[in-house]
Amino acid sequence: MPRSRSKSNLYYQGGAWAARMILSLTLLLSGVTKAIDPKGTVYKLQDYLIYFDVPSLLSQDMLTAIAVMLCSVEFLLGIYLFFGIRRRFTSYLTLIFIGLMTLVTLFILIWHPVSDCGCFGDAIHLTNGQTFVKNLVLLGCAIVYRYTYATTHKLIGVSLHWLVSMYSILFILFVSLYNNYYLPLADFRPYKVGVNIPKAMLIPEGAAEPEYETTFWLEKNGRRQRFTIDNYPDSTWTYISTEKKLVKEGYVPPITDFSVCDTLGNDLTDSLLADTGYTMMLISPTFDQANRVPVDEINALNDYCLDHKYRFYALTASSMSSVDKWIYYTGAEYPIYFCDATVLKTMVRSNPGLILLHGGTILGKWSGHDLPTLSDGQSVKSIIQDGDNNLRILLKIILYYLIPLLFITFANKFWMNHKHHLNHKTMRQKIVAGNWKMNMNLQDGINLAKEINETLKADKPNCGVVICTPFIHLASVAPLLDKSLVKLGAENCADKAKGAYTGEVSAEMVKSTGADYVILGHSERRQYYHETPEILKEKVQLALQNGLKIIFCIGETLEEREANKQNEVVKAELDGSVYGLSAEEWKNIVLAYEPIWAIGTGKTATADQAEEMLAYIRSTVAEKYGKAVAEETTILYGGSCKPSNAKELFAKPDIDGGLIGGASLKAADFKGIIDAWK
Ligand code: PGA
Repeated sequence: MPRSRSKSNLYYQGGAWAARMILSLTLLLSGVTKAIDPKGTVYKLQDYLIYFDVPSLLSQDMLTAIAVMLCSVEFLLGIYLFFGIRRRFTSYLTLIFIGLMTLVTLFILIWHPVSDCGCFGDAIHLTNGQTFVKNLVLLGCAIVYRYTYATTHKLIGVSLHWLVSMYSILFILFVSLYNNYYLPLADFRPYKVGVNIPKAMLIPEGAAEPEYETTFWLEKNGRRQRFTIDNYPDSTWTYISTEKKLVKEGYVPPITDFSVCDTLGNDLTDSLLADTGYTMMLISPTFDQANRVPVDEINALNDYCLDHKYRFYALTASSMSSVDKWIYYTGAEYPIYFCDATVLKTMVRSNPGLILLHGGTILGKWSGHDLPTLSDGQSVKSIIQDGDNNLRILLKIILYYLIPLLFITFANKFWMNHKHHLNHKTMRQKIVAGNWKMNMNLQDGINLAKEINETLKADKPNCGVVICTPFIHLASVAPLLDKSLVKLGAENCADKAKGAYTGEVSAEMVKSTGADYVILGHSERRQYYHETPEILKEKVQLALQNGLKIIFCIGETLEEREANKQNEVVKAELDGSVYGLSAEEWKNIVLAYEPIWAIGTGKTATADQAEEMLAYIRSTVAEKYGKAVAEETTILYGGSCKPSNAKELFAKPDIDGGLIGGASLKAADFKGIIDAWK
């Protein structure tokens, strides 16, 4: 690829990644901040309904369901984008979602139904203009991702998509429902535990106050016009509305709107906040919608306060008739004062909720679902809460999500690998083959073959069994074996088809005895009889042409292993003799890895060493014939394999059995190895 093209390709991919990550992280942030405070979203939705003059179009429960759904969709889209799950589907959905949200923010920008769209709950406040610009950027990213999603990588395998989706849905539902039932885990509002309300209302000396310009819309003869206080027109104009615009930034204290009055309208704010003792405030924006379940607990807290000379009062924005109803139904004996509904909803996200104050400082906040209980002798100090850092709480939530996710991912990967190996291992043929070498005269050989046959008849093997005998035994042993239990093989065959080759035995002759297998490439033949890869290639061809299956041996010497050349050596042996075979021919090949230093020496390769080599050999088969063929190829280990170590060796995922020399000469030992598959 030309340099400039690869560079532009890099930019293209980088752009796609950036778009995906910007979208993902923004959606995750807005999903999580909303899930932390679902009631905040409900209140925001209510503001929209009030703007459209349909305040009770949707019930509180329906609004809660919408809030939970909204944060779940955002969170899941963020997760899908981040991990690259269902990229095409996600790219469409993201574009539709962000497109809709952009329209909403355009509407908010033009008509100002709310002063802050509530995208990030109370964690980050954006003006309507900022929100719209943010959404335009996101819309750009969504369009980019829509057309580039295929170039971005998946961070997790397809097999995990379902698991991560399910886990993420459950996680976000749990977080949002928990925060809805109790209070938000992180409190981004000005009435956080630890805040001193009077102090939070102060403007520091010398701080510049913000300046606003107020303009008025008036109408005359169907013509609307904007006026300021300086050119306010005469009474022939009809007043329509007022607009307040910030013209100069200044210091705005965190709390500006906390104000309490009694039924007669007397302002009690200062006197209440001046109280230096403990105060409990029961907060209920609307008594009509308040949860009445904890009424007894509330009254008990009031009694406790009376006993200890602490103040207890309720703050509400309810109508007088609702207040009367509340008193009637709950037997409330505490004073009830009035405060702005939005302020009360901001103070505590529960109806009713409870706030403990001391000298104007907030010491604790409770949802109506878990009000504190205080027995007579118990000090109020025992219920004081610590105001935790919001950032720390957010990080904790992220960790609570990530740690189990990582655990699930790893466990799944581990399980899939295990299953993968198990599956393929069960699919592949397992074989235990004996190689008698130049042992046993004919009579002993016949006896051994009979004994093996009888033993396996009495106790059926769980794997394929082959005995490879010297040529002279073949014809006599063949009729003695039950072929469904034990197959017969030769230890060698000639590299010529037939003719004047004194002393040689051809593949055709081997087959004619009733044998089905032949061992080729054994290290003893390579070493003592100088069989080269070329000679072996001929033998392989002839064996296959005569319908024999081949147990093809490969393996390195001690020197080669010490020089760390084992991979190279076995690969060359395979390349030289069998890797030219067609896939069809390959079906008749069984490989046997036999490290020469372990043959007949009593020195076995450790199970891990053997597994490492067999896995490597399988990977070279995969390169040649593809993964599926490699997974079906039977590969044996040979070299001092005995009943005592067979089980450990055969337990390895890539070891499909053994080629047994010394231990195949005694029926009991051979059976012991065969039984390692049981
Ligand atoms: P061994 O021989 O089991 O006696 O080590 C294995 C073989 O050469 O096939």
